[in-house]
Amino acid sequence: MSKILITSALPYINGIKHLGNLAGSQLPADVYARFQRARGNEVLAICATDEHGTPAELAAQAAGQDVRTYCDEQHRLQAEVGARFGLSWDWFGRSSSHQNAALTQHFSDVLEDQGFIEERVDRQLYSLADKRFLPDRYVEGICPVCGYPKARGDQCDNCGSLLDPLDLKEPYSVISGSRDLEVRDTRHLYLLQTKLAERIRAWVNTRQHWPTLARSIALKHLDEGLIDRGITRDLSWGVPVTRGGQPRTGMEGKVFYVWFDAPIEYIAATQEWADATGGDWRAWWRTDAGADQVRYVEFMGKDNVAFHSVSFPATILGSGEPWKTVDTLKAFNWLNWYGGKFSTSQGRGIFMDSALEILPADCWRWYLTSNSPEHSDSTFTFEQLVAAVNRDLADVLGNFVNRILKFCEGRFEGVVPAGGEPGPLEAKLCADVAGALADLTAQFEAIEVRKSAQALRALWVLGNEYLQEAAPWSAIKTDQVRAGVIVRTAVNLVGLYGRVSAPIIPFAAEAMRRAVGESSDMWPGVDISAELSRIPEGRALTTPPILFSKIEDTQVAAWSARFGAA
Ligand code: 2FM
Ligand code: ZN
Repeated sequence: MSKILITSALPYINGIKHLGNLAGSQLPADVYARFQRARGNEVLAICATDEHGTPAELAAQAAGQDVRTYCDEQHRLQAEVGARFGLSWDWFGRSSSHQNAALTQHFSDVLEDQGFIEERVDRQLYSLADKRFLPDRYVEGICPVCGYPKARGDQCDNCGSLLDPLDLKEPYSVISGSRDLEVRDTRHLYLLQTKLAERIRAWVNTRQHWPTLARSIALKHLDEGLIDRGITRDLSWGVPVTRGGQPRTGMEGKVFYVWFDAPIEYIAATQEWADATGGDWRAWWRTDAGADQVRYVEFMGKDNVAFHSVSFPATILGSGEPWKTVDTLKAFNWLNWYGGKFSTSQGRGIFMDSALEILPADCWRWYLTSNSPEHSDSTFTFEQLVAAVNRDLADVLGNFVNRILKFCEGRFEGVVPAGGEPGPLEAKLCADVAGALADLTAQFEAIEVRKSAQALRALWVLGNEYLQEAAPWSAIKTDQVRAGVIVRTAVNLVGLYGRVSAPIIPFAAEAMRRAVGESSDMWPGVDISAELSRIPEGRALTTPPILFSKIEDTQVAAWSARFGAA
């Protein structure tokens, strides 16, 4: 049994996330966590809301709430919709926790002790109308790289460039719209990444097995050269800047930058989990407390990779303390929306709550896994969604399960038939299932998301092929015992599907297991004939309602109109 720590990018608190966020971090993290738990490994799956910084302040302001009330409410909503999507976190924390504040301040102290933090006077935009500095997203203007007119102070949404507010052309305040801005001096802490660059590169070089996307982004940033980075802001909402536990002289009222404290929250959320459950957070994060035995796997969109392959490692390595660092960084490309991007700020695309209003979670989980934006960007289309649901889930899996259970109900009174011996078709089935299962296991293990879905589908197809060839509906006319063997085998296959489908479609998988009374949700072993003999003769089955309903054309038309898909 191994210990596997799994984290997914922390969703910003500013509203329910869209399917692109889900597809590129939380969902694949959950699929992997469920798979590894089924394998019998000790898994700790951690996520949290990312609650600081200008995104939180601006969203609270737009909602007419104070920022703490806003965060409390949005955290609850995100936790709830995540649970309804079957995201099986062991802990869903909050970066505004007291644990994160203490740990963030600790890192700042030790980094300064090690000589990697210094105070500098920085030039920042100040709004005369708003009587305040305008960090990050409080200012917008024309992108100096691509000319996009609504680029934000920290990043251009159009071309992805990371920006400094002073880079923007024709900047204006997001609060008041005022262009009456001037550049003023303000004191901030800088993390001296330039001093750490070679250590970070050496560390990245020990991570030879990272998937290509993450590795190439990390090396690109290192090759371009690191710069020292301001890690504090003139904001009121966030982790207060301290030194040795006291407000830092000359920086009273300032807070740490959201991208400094957010990655620290991965550790702090584990402390939150430990405080709530009595667990041992050190065993997961401190290599002097056993965490060197942990395998740590992170899931995130490609825009987060620089922070986790360079900036956060700077924090961790610079501390000189024995922290666990990430072993496998699995990054994802974008899921696009009809010729553009999903956008939280512009409300474009489908969001997690409205997604569940139109289809069950498993349909989305299957679609987003089998069409994962894994090795390149992918585009959401209703056509692909319909194909994934109608062809794969309804026609292949659902049809097999409902057909065999109905047949058993109609011809064997819903009881697993007794007697008879498996024949050549069953032997072939076992061999085919063994091969397909080995492939599925390998793909899950390798975190190949699309290939995992393909391998699972291939396993479902075997059930239909078997039924087609064995044809119990013909056999029963002449040989009741032979028909019984086929039904018993197929019922067992339903139980097996209920176990191996669970990482991707946990709700339907549970329905399958329940229907045939399969109590184990553990991953099957390699002795397939034993695995296909678990549901015993004489067991009474329950026929579940239709596992997956097909999507109708009229629904697609209504949804396209509702979500503005054009
Ligand atoms: O990109 C985002 O949505 C960020 N909130 C991710 C933060 S991940 C981490 F480092 F905290
Ligand atoms: Zn741009």
